[in-house]
Amino acid sequence: MLTQAMNERLTRVGPGTPGGELMRRYWIPFAAVAQLDENPVRKVRLLGEDLTLYRDKSGALGLIGDRCLHRLVDMKYGIPDTNGLRCPYHGWLYGESGACLDRPMESNRSQFNQKIKAYPVKELGGLIFAYMGPLPAPALPKWDLFVWPNSIRQIGFNIIDCNWLQCQENTGDPTHSVWTHGHLFRYQLERQGTLDERAKSMIHTLHNRSKWGDGIKEVYAKPTDYGFEKGIVYSKELGAEKDWTRRHSTVMFPFYTQTGSAGSPRSEFQIRVPIDDTHTLHICYQCYSGPYGVEAPAQDGVPYYEPPTVNEKGEPILDYVLAQDAIVWVAQGPVTDRSQEMLGRTDVPIVLLRRQLDEQIARVEAGLDPMNVFRDEHDILHGNGKSPKDTWGSPDWAKKKLFVSQGYRQMYHKGFALDDADRYGPALDLVKELHRRVEDYELAANQETADSPAE
Ligand code: FES
Ligand SMILES: [Fe+2]
Repeated sequence: MLTQAMNERLTRVGPGTPGGELMRRYWIPFAAVAQLDENPVRKVRLLGEDLTLYRDKSGALGLIGDRCLHRLVDMKYGIPDTNGLRCPYHGWLYGESGACLDRPMESNRSQFNQKIKAYPVKELGGLIFAYMGPLPAPALPKWDLFVWPNSIRQIGFNIIDCNWLQCQENTGDPTHSVWTHGHLFRYQLERQGTLDERAKSMIHTLHNRSKWGDGIKEVYAKPTDYGFEKGIVYSKELGAEKDWTRRHSTVMFPFYTQTGSAGSPRSEFQIRVPIDDTHTLHICYQCYSGPYGVEAPAQDGVPYYEPPTVNEKGEPILDYVLAQDAIVWVAQGPVTDRSQEMLGRTDVPIVLLRRQLDEQIARVEAGLDPMNVFRDEHDILHGNGKSPKDTWGSPDWAKKKLFVSQGYRQMYHKGFALDDADRYGPALDLVKELHRRVEDYELAANQETADSPAE
C-alpha cells in the first residue's frame, strides 16, 4: 500500500512532475523506423506532450512541437522539405532544432528567431528514440537485443489504456502467470471450445504456467546494477516436484523487462512507455537469434505490427499471453489507487520496484543521474554483447542435448507461436524457418553425440 501522495509521485509523467522528470533522463523508444517509411510525418504523444515526428528529404529525423507558431495548425499535416518540415497552411519551415527557418510570404523572413519545441531523436535496432530532458543528452544504451548479430527482429506496438506503472509492476509479479496465463487461459479455451485442440501438447503455455503455482516457498527479488532480478523458490515439502529456484524475467530500469536470453531462438524486451498518465505505449521488441552454428534467415529492415487485443465485437481476445496481461493491467483502473490495495507475500518484487523508482526520482531531485543513464559510450556495457542477463549462463544452445526441454518458444514451426503476440507478426515465417534450422541442428548434434564411442 502507498499513500496517495506517493502514488502520484510514482505514476505522473507530465512536465515538472517528479516521475516525469525522471523519465526525461532517458532515451525513450516510441516509434519504428518502418512507420516513417510508410508516412514520413507522424503525430506522437509522449510523457503528456503532443509532438510531431518527421523525416525530411535529406533523411534527417526531427521531433518538434505539434503546433505551428503562425496560427497553430497541427504539424501532423506538414510537408517534408530538404531541411525540415513545412506547415501545410502558409509554408513556415521548422528544422530539427525547432528553429523557424523560413516564412515564405513574410517581409522579415531571415530575422525571425522564434522556435518551436524540439527534442533530439536517434535510431537503433529499427526503433526511434527521443530524449526529452536537460542537455547534454546522455549516450543511447545499446541493450543487447537491439544489436545482437545473426537475428530476425519484429516490433509489436499496443496502446494500453492505463498508467505505465501498472504494466511495469506486472514485470515484478512472477506469480501472476499461474492464473493470468494458466487458469484464465484454460477458462478461455474451454469457453471457445478449443481446449482439447489447442492444449493437447503438455509443452503448451497453460500447462507449464499452471504448475508454477505448486509448492511456492517464497518469492524473492534482489537489486542488480540495471534493475532487479526476481523469481520463486519452490519446496518439495510444500507440494513442488522438487526443491528448486526458478528465476523469472529480468527487470531493467525504468520501463524494460527482458524475457529469454540474448542469442536464443526467441527473446524479447517488453517496454512500457508512458504516453501520458493514463495511456501506455507497450512495445514488444522481439529478437530471434541463430545460436552458434545456425544461420538466421536474412531480413530486410525491422517490420512492425499491432497485435489486436479485442475482436470485431469489441470483446477482449484472451487466448494469447500479451492480451491476457493487457486485460488485467487495464482492469486495475486508469491509475490504480494504491492506497486501497492489500499486498501479500508474493508482492515482494513489487515493493522493491516501487522503492527503486522512488530512490531514482530522489536522485534526479538531488541533481544526480539515475540508474541506466550513461554519460560515456564506454560505460555502456551492453553494446559489446553484454547483457543484464549474462549471469544466466551461456547462450550456446548447441551444447544442449534435448531440444524438447527448451520450451515452446523455440518451436514456432510446430505451431507454438499461437500462444504469443508473435502469431500476428510480419516476420513469423522467417522465425519458423529459423526454429526449423535450430531443431535440425540440434537433432544432428544429438545424433553425433549418440554415435560417438563412450570415453
Ligand atoms: S499556420 Fe502554419 S504557416 Fe500559417
Ligand atoms: Fe504476464
